[in-house]
Amino acid sequence: MTPEDFSEIMKNVKKRKLRKIGAGAHGEIYKMCGTPYAVKFLNPSVFPENRLAQAVLGIEYFLQKRLYDNNVSVPKPIGIMGVYHPKYREFRPGLIMEEIQTSLLSRILNSGKIRVGWHEEVEKANSKGIVVYDSSPQHNTMWDKVRKKVVLHDCISWREEVK
Ligand SMILES: Nc1ncnc2c1ncn2[C@@H]1O[C@H](COP(=O)(O)OP(=O)(O)OP(=O)(O)O)[C@@H](O)[C@H]1O
Ligand SMILES: [Mg+2]
Repeated sequence: MTPEDFSEIMKNVKKRKLRKIGAGAHGEIYKMCGTPYAVKFLNPSVFPENRLAQAVLGIEYFLQKRLYDNNVSVPKPIGIMGVYHPKYREFRPGLIMEEIQTSLLSRILNSGKIRVGWHEEVEKANSKGIVVYDSSPQHNTMWDKVRKKVVLHDCISWREEVK
């Protein structure tokens, strides 16, 4: 991330509008309106301590960065930073990453391509010694409708291969 990108995100960080675009068992994803980024928060019910949430998101960032640098298709990770949470009305640790343009319809229409693309990305990750935790493209797989390609996400549970 360039210093200009960083100051763009930090500009009016408290007033920056966030719009919820996704949720899972552990976290929520918000679009950072006016930027090309999304932010992932961990649910306070699962991670009540900010410091713990920050550490866990740090592991996710580290794995995602390693995959991104090795050309595995994951959202470009930017970093961890305190972001004002609209629901809890306080700063919470957030994993900032590239926002992927995706929709359920594009996912359905491209389900065949998703299967093929998923296998390719999993192979690439395996060749770098990282085992993908999810067992099928039903989980943690997005279809990027702009670049027309598969993007894997939620790398937190992936494992370094034990030799
Ligand atoms: N970078 C992104 N850009 C756009 N949408 C995203 C992005 N990352 C995640 N999403 C959306 O948010 C949803 C939840 O994301 P994610 O799987 O990371 O959350 P989670 O709470 O960790 O999930 P889990 O229940 O698997 O633990 C995804 O299914 C996807 O639709
Ligand atoms: Mg998930």
